[in-house]
Formats: sequence, structure tokens, C-alpha cells
Amino acid sequence: MAPANRYLEGPFGPVAEELTLTDLEVTGALPADLDGRYVRNGPNPIDADPADYHWFLGNGMVHGLRIRDGRAEWYRNRWVRDAVTAEALGEADRGGPHHSPQGDGTVNTNVVGIAGRTLALVEAGSFPIELDDELETIGRTDLDGTLTCSYSAHPKVHGRTGDLHAVTYWWPEESVHHVVIGPDARVVRDVEIPVGGRPMVHDHALSDTRVALFDLPVQFDVDAAMAGQRFPYRWVDDREARVGLLPIDGTADDVVWCSVDPCYVYHPANAVDLPDGSFRVDVVRHPSTFRTDPSGPAEGPPVLARWVVDPTSGKVREEVLDDLSVEFPRFDDRRAGSEYRYAYAASLSLGDPDGANGSVVRYDLENGARLSWHPGPDRVAGEFVVVPRDGSTAEDDAWLVGLVHDEPAGRAALTVLAADDLTAGPVATVEIPVRIPIGFHGNWIPTTA
Ligand SMILES: [Fe+2]
Repeated sequence: MAPANRYLEGPFGPVAEELTLTDLEVTGALPADLDGRYVRNGPNPIDADPADYHWFLGNGMVHGLRIRDGRAEWYRNRWVRDAVTAEALGEADRGGPHHSPQGDGTVNTNVVGIAGRTLALVEAGSFPIELDDELETIGRTDLDGTLTCSYSAHPKVHGRTGDLHAVTYWWPEESVHHVVIGPDARVVRDVEIPVGGRPMVHDHALSDTRVALFDLPVQFDVDAAMAGQRFPYRWVDDREARVGLLPIDGTADDVVWCSVDPCYVYHPANAVDLPDGSFRVDVVRHPSTFRTDPSGPAEGPPVLARWVVDPTSGKVREEVLDDLSVEFPRFDDRRAGSEYRYAYAASLSLGDPDGANGSVVRYDLENGARLSWHPGPDRVAGEFVVVPRDGSTAEDDAWLVGLVHDEPAGRAALTVLAADDLTAGPVATVEIPVRIPIGFHGNWIPTTA
């Protein structure tokens, strides 16, 4: 018999306990220059009903490891105490301003370090949740009153200024917002851009001078919402797919919209301005999402593609770079908005066990070569992040850090790979003697951040 809800089963199934494990066993040698925390967010539902549970809405849980002096000092997992989750746990609300008068949601998608603060993030209507260094929830934050709109799970670092750019949305508004947070973790820009609909906008692309807005055919569906669907976004066949180019200091009137073949992009990699005025971005393109399967992104294969967005012709030219099913593209943020050579991804097709082979992949975008490392039978790698080595400048002079899931063994690992020697396998593996569900996004938060 098929499971009642695949996102409550197997590698997606939640864990029941919050743990603190210290002095974890390390295989290999943790690099001495890794001093910080790797923290990853993802759904870990509490008392979910298989009949209506949606993977995108599960209660958020962060899993983190503290690395210092070649040691793995601790592993912790903690639910993110947004209002929904605190109530589900029978705890008092942790406080802080609410964004939405209709109630906040679960903050389950990403976790970032900004100006020494650790923020758990979700799109579409909840303010960030601030965590302390040991992953306990402090409370909701509107960044000292400067954040007045919904936020995003995917802020992006501007390579030259260090500002954090995001494109945000909230279902009652037929618009998106371009929000910029400065180095002091305060919002310095919030520009609303009407889009004539209510698209699901998971992420954006950022070059040195422009933001690319993804207005793709997944829309808020009023009928689904009225019918009580917990996640009321659906693919709309007759909705144009388009990419809007917004100057980073421009207004809604400055946006140039360019049409693209219907598809969905959750995540782009890097983007650059080309000399002829075009905008080039590498994306993981899904043929569709929420068109035939409203339960999750399983209409793959999602593949790496290169888009050239041409504001003169109003069109997007696409070249598929590889046919491997991948997701969670990352790159060296030091190259953000400028030419880059390497993109990394996980061959973990979100929500589609048939599309996953579990590898960490490195694309050489100059010569088209693809390298990969597989963690072994029955093991699956999640998103790996790029951590530059101390004092380095070369793009692949970096570590790759992420989680490996070993579902049959009920274990996980934090794995460190050399970005410039991926196929050699791990330089260090921190053994985690408990399982960690497959989740969404994490980041390396250095001690100095
Ligand atoms: Fe994402």
C-alpha cells in the first residue's frame, strides 16, 4: 500500500525529539579554518494529518553543528518557535511583531547569519524568527521596525556591496517587493512592483546592477483556498511565464519584462550583466510544478539551464546545460554578480524519490564538465554550501559543507568536501548518530559573522 503522505514517511519523516549531542566522532580531519556553525532548516511536522499535510508547511526545525579547532563540539536540533509551532508544542509564544493579521505561518525554509544575528526564514507572510547561537528561539523580528512587508527564504548577497537583496510576496497582494537589507541588518529599500497576479515567487536572481523577478505560472488559487487546501498554489496553463529585469535602485516603472517558455524555477545560481545589455542567469528549471501534483515539486526532471534575458527583444533564450536531475544550486558568493566558473548542486530531486541519486555535483561552466561524489549506498546528500578557505581568493579554493542522510541506518553526517578535489571524497565526516529528515536550506555561519 502506498504511504498516505510520502512527505511524512521515510527520509522525509519527522523526528520526535530535540537533542544536544557533544564531542561527536569525526572521521578524517576537520579543517582548522572552519570555525563556526553549519545550520540547516526544514520541515519537521508536529501531529500532522496525512490527509492534508503539505511538505512546504511543516513546522520548521533547524539542525546545527558547532565546529571549532578541528572538533565537532555539538549537534543540536530545535524546532523554530514561530507562533504556530510554539502553540503546537504547548509553549508560550516567544513574542515579537507579527507580519500578517491573518496569522503567521511556519518558518521552515532557510537560516542565515546577518550582522551577528541568526535568522530562520520562510517566504510569503511571516517575519524572520531570530535564534540564539545555540538555536533556541528568541522571537519574531521585523529588524528593528524596518521590515514592513513579508520576507523571503532566499536573500542573496550582492557581491560588491554586501547588501542582502530579496524578492518577497504575500498572497493578498498582486505584487512583489524588492527588499534590501544593509550590513547592519536593517531594511534600506522596499519597492513594490505590481505583477497583475499572485505568483509564488520562491527566489530571484541578482547581478551587479539588476534583479531578475521570476513571474512564473504558479498562482494563488482562490478556489483551492476556499476549499480548505492548506497550500493553495497551482500551475495556471494560460498564465504567461516571464522574467522582469529591475535595476537594483529602480522603480516598478523601470522593470523590463521578458517572456520565457513556461516552467518553474525555485532556485537560480549566479547571474551576470553581459556587455550587450543582456542578463545571464543559470537556473534549475522544472518543466512545471503544482500542475499535476499539488503535494510537492515532483514534475521533473529539474535540470541546470542557462538563460540569457534580452531586454531588447523581450525574450529569454535558454540552453539546457546538463540532463541530470538536480536541485539546490550553490556557488561561491564571492563571485556573486560577476563571472564565475563553478556551480554546485545536489542530485536530489525535491520530493521525487525516483529522480534522486543522492550525489553532490560540481559543474565546470567553462568546459561543461560535471564531476560528482556519491556518499555511498542508501545515502543521500542534501544541499552543500561553499565555504571559502581562510585567506583564499580562487573560486574553488573552498570547502563544501552539507548533510548526508543515511535513512536505513537511522544516521546522518556533516560532510566536508574539497571544492577543488570533489571526487577525492570527504576530508572530514562528522558522525551524527541520529537521523535528520531531508530538508531545505542551510548555511555556514562563521564565528565572526
Ligand atoms: Fe529554496
